[in-house]
Amino acid sequence: MKVHTYEKAFLVAGAAVLIVCMAALAYAAVALGIQLPGRVAEVDPRRLATTAPFDHPGVRQTGPASYAAVVVGRVWSFDPPTIVVPRDADVTFVGTSADVLHGFHVGDTRVNVMLIPGQVTRVTHRFHEPGEYLLLCHEYCGLGHHTMAGKVVVR
Ligand code: CUA
Repeated sequence: MKVHTYEKAFLVAGAAVLIVCMAALAYAAVALGIQLPGRVAEVDPRRLATTAPFDHPGVRQTGPASYAAVVVGRVWSFDPPTIVVPRDADVTFVGTSADVLHGFHVGDTRVNVMLIPGQVTRVTHRFHEPGEYLLLCHEYCGLGHHTMAGKVVVR
């Protein structure tokens, strides 16, 4: 069987790309410790009303310059709809969903995650500029998806 020169070159290039990508994946997982969320952050979506911290959504201070903003997404709103946090502090958004998959994007920031029923999502951000930031659901979650918004107020 004769393999054309170009065909052979493409096969070698394809295999090389695969090897490089697998090596990058292994490096990220082993050396950098980047992992998918584990079972440590699971929550029963049917029992949010009686499960801390989701039984009391809202902002609480967790340190001298750190805050936790607990958020529950449900069709089609965020609870609480307005999150007030101070500037120049570490704000950790702790979120989950009570029903279906929702998006959680804070405008003009890199906070862009999913609220997943059964999983706890954590993302930390430090706001430097005071103002109002639009909070949007960016995952289609049903008829009222386009109305699902809130805001983050930085003081
Ligand atoms: Cu919630 Cu789209």
